[in-house]
Amino acid sequence: MNIAIITGASSGMGMEFARQLDKSLNKTDEIWLLARRKEPMEELARTMKTKTKTIVIDMTSDKEMAQFAEVLEISNPKITVLVNCAGVGSYGEFVKQSGEDVSAMIRLNIVALTQMTKICLSYMHRGSRIIQFASGAAFVPQAAFAVYAATKSYVYSLSRALGKELQSRGISVTAVCPGPVNTPFLKHAYGDTSRIKGLKKLTMAKTECVVAKAIEDCKMGKSVSVCGLSMKMLYLVTQSVQNVMQIFV
Ligand SMILES: NC(=O)c1ccc[n+]([C@@H]2O[C@H](COP(=O)([O-])OP(=O)(O)OC[C@H]3O[C@@H](n4cnc5c(N)ncnc54)[C@H](OP(=O)(O)O)[C@@H]3O)[C@@H](O)[C@H]2O)c1
Repeated sequence: MNIAIITGASSGMGMEFARQLDKSLNKTDEIWLLARRKEPMEELARTMKTKTKTIVIDMTSDKEMAQFAEVLEISNPKITVLVNCAGVGSYGEFVKQSGEDVSAMIRLNIVALTQMTKICLSYMHRGSRIIQFASGAAFVPQAAFAVYAATKSYVYSLSRALGKELQSRGISVTAVCPGPVNTPFLKHAYGDTSRIKGLKKLTMAKTECVVAKAIEDCKMGKSVSVCGLSMKMLYLVTQSVQNVMQIFV
């Protein structure tokens, strides 16, 4: 049985990924949707033409991740696509953030994403694809978004390195690096979204566009997916600086 797995499928970009993959995936028998909230996933599943399974999971729980690994072991599927969308962000100065918020970002964005990737890799074969949600925040350190940006730098770095390691096995890894996107993420991250100002507000991307570009880039085997002119410019500038720095170290 060929399956696609999408984490963070109860909202925002994960939900949109499910909709777009439902239209574009062939050779996939089932799409598995993962998140903590069952209802939005079931509502989404009812609109999908591909057979869909919803799995309620708190990815920060070791016990629940182990149970998910068991489900895979029993089903023994071939995973054609893994999309790791689940992620949280918390805006504010590091010293003022609660320990809980800081640890939630690290546990989900770093630990859970890494574990999920490792669990799923055992079921991937030549032609399988991994899509990891990093962020434009991965490219430069961000004051008042320090931990979030650092977690996304981790995702970016892991994805690029893993992509190289998996090249010989014919498995591609694409790091998706959007700027601000209009999803519930922003309300969770900022509380009051009127705090989003200036360039961030001006460059706000549409969920559908970011996801469509990510799917297109993944199909082309690109290691990084960047949507929109401003994000592309930021990416190119940071890449050029890194290349220059490499001459000196
Ligand atoms: N929106 C942006 O501006 C933006 C920009 C750059 C990158 N990103 C990244 O893009 C990805 C998708 O974000 P989004 O904008 O679609 O956000 P979103 O609408 O808030 O969706 C986040 C998803 O993560 C799931 N999730 C949260 N905690 C979880 C947990 N402990 N276990 C399992 N699932 C959990 C949520 O589902 P439940 O609550 O049901 O568990 C939800 O489905 C994230 O990694 C985010 O960091 C977002």
